[in-house]
Amino acid sequence: MDCRTILVTGGAGFIGSNFIHYLIETYGDQVEIINFDALTYAGNLENLKEVEDLANYRFEKGDITSSKEVARMFETYDVDLVVHMAAESHVDRSILDPEVFIRTNVLGTYNLLMAAKRAWEVGPKTYAAGKRFVHVSTDEVYGSLADDGSFFTETTPLDPHSPYSASKASSDLFVKAFGDTYGFPFCITRCSNNYGPYQFPEKLIPLMIHNALKGLPLPVYGKGENIRDWLYVADHCKAIDLVSREGRLGEVYNIGGHNELRNIDLVKSILQKVREALPEGDPRAETITEGLIRYVADRPGHDLRYAISPQKIHQELSWLPETCFDQGIERTIQWYLENLSWMEHITSGAYEAYYDAMYQHRGVTADKTQEPQSLLKA
Ligand code: NAD
Ligand code: DAU
Repeated sequence: MDCRTILVTGGAGFIGSNFIHYLIETYGDQVEIINFDALTYAGNLENLKEVEDLANYRFEKGDITSSKEVARMFETYDVDLVVHMAAESHVDRSILDPEVFIRTNVLGTYNLLMAAKRAWEVGPKTYAAGKRFVHVSTDEVYGSLADDGSFFTETTPLDPHSPYSASKASSDLFVKAFGDTYGFPFCITRCSNNYGPYQFPEKLIPLMIHNALKGLPLPVYGKGENIRDWLYVADHCKAIDLVSREGRLGEVYNIGGHNELRNIDLVKSILQKVREALPEGDPRAETITEGLIRYVADRPGHDLRYAISPQKIHQELSWLPETCFDQGIERTIQWYLENLSWMEHITSGAYEAYYDAMYQHRGVTADKTQEPQSLLKA
């Protein structure tokens, strides 16, 4: 493969940093990586300390909501490929404060599209050879499924319910509009729920691992019957890379591994796996029981079920998930156990304030000595 210059937006986040590690492990110095990230609460350069000194990796602190900062990337580098992951990504935060989701996810995506179009366009609807914009989106844009065995396909109508998914659907439509109107070279990926190393502990799996290890309550929304389709993050990274190289321009690819779990079953399985991962005689094992589970106030507009049909990406690009859930979750728990300081750095300071704001009204606090006051009976 010729050396390609890849602009990864949001490379300091969960999927972004896993994707950069994946690129370096797979292509070594055959790729030039520019990580453009504003380092919001979710961006963490600690995720990339193993690659930060490599000659073919560069970190550029910048904000996609600034058209000037985005344009500077295309003036400074001859970018071949944009893998656009920068986003506000947490549904609960979008319910509390939707505006930043509109700015980052919609305006930020538009700024990137405009800058890439200006840099790559060589004539009307004609672009320099090999240029491509991969927009990393989500299955949440399709809305919610009944618990009836149906799947989201690429032709399922968009029907977002949360401010987060509405902002992602809007950004998807801008990407498509640039393709339809200006012949802009793009692909869109829509993946199901990811898990794995470096995931910020506001999301279900790392939150449960963290709280279990600390003996804190495990807040399960509603009755815990919502279903998510979980994919190990490295499998998502491989799919994005395939789409970046071989995906048909102008196409959407759904990514998911047929791994549906009810939240409550997932939480119980995490409890068991965390207990098993502890060294023999570790006193924490005694407190890691189902007694930690608290059914709390539901998420407003909570989508019941997500499930992806990955048939298209399988048939066209021969992609299949390689990590079964048991292996992936054990690897993830092991990673968190071996990286307790990573978690400590994140959960000290601002995270504590977030946690209290998000969960106090649901009757759960980070204070172990305090019993939940107003738990919803599910
Ligand atoms: P994340 O929240 O962990 O990381 C987001 C990153 O974007 C952070 O590094 C943050 O600093 C950066 N960022 C935020 N606002 C920015 C701005 N204005 N300018 C520049 N950088 C900014 O998110 P994630 O879970 O890694 O998700 C990455 C992408 O994948 C998102 O677009 C998300 O919608 C999509 N996605 C996520 C999942 C999942 O399960 N996590 C599944 C499907 C799709
Ligand atoms: O489907 C892809 C999406 O997956 C991505 O686009 C999003 O960026 C990502 O955050 C994720 O969204 P979810 O809302 O599905 O993930 P979250 O980890 O927040 O929640 C997973 C499920 O667990 C959901 O049904 C809500 C529930 N939940 C979540 C938290 C944080 C709880 O029961 N308790 C909790 O404390």
